[in-house]
Amino acid sequence: MFDEEHSADAVAASFAATPDPRLREILTALVRHAHAFVKDVGLTGEEWAAGIRFLTETGQHCDATRQEFILLSDVLGVSMLVETIGNRSVGGSTESTVEGPFHLVASPPRALGESIAVVADGEPCLVTGSVVDTGGRPVAGARIDVWQADADGFYDVQRPQTVPQQNLRGLFTADGDGRFWFRTIVPRFYPIPTDGPVGELLGATARHPYRAAHIHVEVSAPGVRTLTTHLFVDGSPYLDSDAVFGVKESLVRVFETTDDIALAERYQMPNPFRRVDFPIVVRPEGSSVGSG
Ligand SMILES: [Fe+2]
Repeated sequence: MFDEEHSADAVAASFAATPDPRLREILTALVRHAHAFVKDVGLTGEEWAAGIRFLTETGQHCDATRQEFILLSDVLGVSMLVETIGNRSVGGSTESTVEGPFHLVASPPRALGESIAVVADGEPCLVTGSVVDTGGRPVAGARIDVWQADADGFYDVQRPQTVPQQNLRGLFTADGDGRFWFRTIVPRFYPIPTDGPVGELLGATARHPYRAAHIHVEVSAPGVRTLTTHLFVDGSPYLDSDAVFGVKESLVRVFETTDDIALAERYQMPNPFRRVDFPIVVRPEGSSVGSG
């Protein structure tokens, strides 16, 4: 029977015949934590209704280019927690971080060296890198998917009237030595969208909405675990208070100013230019999660 003391037990028992054991485990724990939460804070009917209203609005703010629920998960640190537990660094592998809500557009395949900045003002930047596995072997032909905000802190999908789709996005294929390189601009720090319920939450809690400047990087190849991470710009504001808790120290890199005419010519860069190198280490598929 359902009573205050045994409420979670009563609901958990209703899941007893769930054929999928993992689903049963998740739903049972969810109900136990939810009921404990209601009891802990002494949730009132008005507060419960406000919560339902908030979640309803969160859903209503989702469409093909806006994902308010991912944003909510991000600002509550849940996305980072899931990511961190699921992708613990093993054998020197590159640390992961959140995918974020802006990977909604497929990145266009581009040739090595091509610029991802179809339309963008900003400081020209050369990104170079390499993909090796935890055994030190180059991952020839690895796919490197990158996307980033522009110098004003906006993604293409946020300004569809003024910026072509797929601006500042690119899908590169590493060469036979696992190397990759492309041209772009230095991204700016940016606020996550604040014109929805998540923005209201940040406002009500006196939190700023900013993310430290970064380039999103997703690396995949047959036989290796897909790595979702960021390349953070050293010196960017908000590295120590990223709104979605995404910063890991090992992912912060110096985007150094380079004055080298020969190098500029080789990579079709104006001189001087900013330059960053991102050596990436990926784990073999099926490698154990490890303990920390
Ligand atoms: Fe981002």
